[in-house]
Amino acid sequence: MAEVVIVRDEEEAGELAASAIADLLRARADAVLGLATGSTPLSTYRALARRIDAEGIAVAGVRGFALDEYVGLPAGHPEGYRQVITREVVEPLGLTPELIRVPNGDPATIRTAAEAYEAAIDAAGGVDLQVLGIGRTGHIGFNEPGSSLASRTRVKTLTEQTRIDNARFFDSIEDVPMHCITQGIGTILRARHLVLLAFGEAKAEAIAAAVEGPVSASQPGSAIQLHPHATVIVDEAAASRLEHAGYYRHAWANKPDWQGI
Ligand code: GLP
Repeated sequence: MAEVVIVRDEEEAGELAASAIADLLRARADAVLGLATGSTPLSTYRALARRIDAEGIAVAGVRGFALDEYVGLPAGHPEGYRQVITREVVEPLGLTPELIRVPNGDPATIRTAAEAYEAAIDAAGGVDLQVLGIGRTGHIGFNEPGSSLASRTRVKTLTEQTRIDNARFFDSIEDVPMHCITQGIGTILRARHLVLLAFGEAKAEAIAAAVEGPVSASQPGSAIQLHPHATVIVDEAAASRLEHAGYYRHAWANKPDWQGI
């Protein structure tokens, strides 16, 4: 099962996730990071930027792959994930822009974009550590309920719930694209370490289903149960529906120092 770590707040979660990423970057100058967008990973990226700065970690060779992108937003749109990744990750961390890929959501080339993205991930030798958030519908990346657990990068249709949730980044819900291009669940499962973060009561149900529910395409997050090295970092509110929360706390409190996440 995934290791579940229940923390006080987003800041503590960000520190914990960032320390695992920092360890990876120190061990491998050309590490491959899997990058999530959304609000959830922001405290991780901020904590990581502080560490890179304070500890002088070399990041010029670090490579990265975003999970997903909207289809059809005008190039340079501030809410396109290319822009979000540049603003929230590449610039604050000082990464090399050319080494950070985001799926191409341009309708003109969308027929070949998915295959090209999978090939690029393979050519990089796969993702070392994948940062994940989870949607209220249980989606990881933009793999909405019903997504095949073996799926590869492809175009998907967003649920209305996800469009409503993401409308906060746009002027109105009509501006939220209907389609996206997302790494598949099978793609995500090929990463060597998954770090799934979630905060707040609104995520409690999705987290319970992902960690303790049956493995099912109806709950895309539950695919993490198939992964040999998955870490779930949640605050108290997001952990509030976990049946075995007491055990997760016990295991974490008694974890040997030498064992990282
Ligand atoms: C977004 C992204 C996902 C993200 C999820 C949760 O739409 N495509 O990668 O994990 O939905 O978003 P948030 O972290 O803002 O709650």
